[in-house]
Amino acid sequence: MLGNFTYSNPTRLHFGPDALEALAGELAHYGKKVQLIYGGGSIKKNGIYDQVVAILKDAGKEIYEDAGVMPNPTVEKLNEGCRIARENHVDLLLAVGGGSCCDYAKGVAASAWCQEDPWEKYYVRMEEVDNPILPVGCVLTMVGTGSEMNGGSVITNHKTKLKIGRVFGEELFPKFSILNPEYTYTLPKYQMVAGIYDIMNHITEQYFSGDDDCTSDYLMEGLMRSLIHSSREAVENPRNYEARSNLMWIATWALNTLVAKGKATDWMVHMIGQSVGAYTDATHGMTLSAVSLPYYRHILPYGVHQFKKFAVNVWAVRPEGKSDQEIGLEGLAAMEAWMKEIGLVMHLADLGVTEDMLEGIAQGSFVMDSGYKVLEHQEILDILKQSM
Ligand code: NZQ
Ligand code: ZN
Repeated sequence: MLGNFTYSNPTRLHFGPDALEALAGELAHYGKKVQLIYGGGSIKKNGIYDQVVAILKDAGKEIYEDAGVMPNPTVEKLNEGCRIARENHVDLLLAVGGGSCCDYAKGVAASAWCQEDPWEKYYVRMEEVDNPILPVGCVLTMVGTGSEMNGGSVITNHKTKLKIGRVFGEELFPKFSILNPEYTYTLPKYQMVAGIYDIMNHITEQYFSGDDDCTSDYLMEGLMRSLIHSSREAVENPRNYEARSNLMWIATWALNTLVAKGKATDWMVHMIGQSVGAYTDATHGMTLSAVSLPYYRHILPYGVHQFKKFAVNVWAVRPEGKSDQEIGLEGLAAMEAWMKEIGLVMHLADLGVTEDMLEGIAQGSFVMDSGYKVLEHQEILDILKQSM
């Protein structure tokens, strides 16, 4: 482990089939007015909405509905949520849904009492939040983003074709999150596997950086092995509680700041994937799967020691008689085979990307400088072309 750091995570998690029983106790910490945030209606079909509303009513809460949070929430929706929060002086934002609802709730929490345009201030200029912040609670129904225990809030502006992920500080982490793996049974397979790859990529984004011996790498190798195993079980039988509960817990630990400790972290696949998202509105995890292999094959020569470790420790590649480069490439080939096996999108063209968009997508990809290779514009363009 290198350097100085502080570790703290303020989110209280309630996990398991009975997790919702903890909601009443959590609600007792807040005032009467609850903004109930949810998406396009999946929670009404699977009954989670009715359960949550019953608990809110029993607790004597006034409910302010904020429905229709879309996957990849937009700046227009964010402004609408802020208006609901402000006009009603709500005391708590309760998000019931996936990463989009949780991210959006954090955006509203930071922005509702902002005196300026919050998109410009908090997402484009990334300024510190200097207005009152509303508390957020989450009931998670989709697994992947880690939003239930982090400060991430990704908002899309279709007019400027920018999808920006703001990583807020601890004051914006959810105060509590309810994690019942059974809630994820009703996810369509496409969403389930997209979430699985989102988890994998959160881990590799942090793993592929640095060259010291770091405890976080060992933690991540364990998480990835568990993820590969559980993903296969969940694809085989989506109602396998053991597998779904492991996936839920891995997702949380993949992006709740722990495994980043001691790591420089990369995040370049996410930067390219987010720009793809701004142009296509495609499912987040699939934007990552489509660009990952060309990207990792491109940077492998600059971080070959880590790609070798990944191949041997995560994918059980046998190293005897092979060069480090060959071992690393074998690891990526094993990952590619697994990605195809579970049914991920492997080509940008399958997400609606057309050749004429590539220049703009490359322009919109923020360049990070802490991975193995700082990419030039042309390299991003080449990776995009190879991903088609
Ligand atoms: O809107 P509803 O009807 O609820 O349907 C949703 C949505 O269509 C559906 N769904 C969710 N739970 C379900 C369900 N359908 C049936 N049964 C259930 N139990 O799934 C669809 C996708 O939901 P969404 O919340 O959009 O997915 P996800 O959790 O992948 O969130 C994606 C957003 O999170 C951002 C992404 O960029 C994207 O905007 N991210 C947030 C991060 C963070 N906070 O740290 C990091 C990630 O890298 C990511 O960028
Ligand atoms: Zn992600």
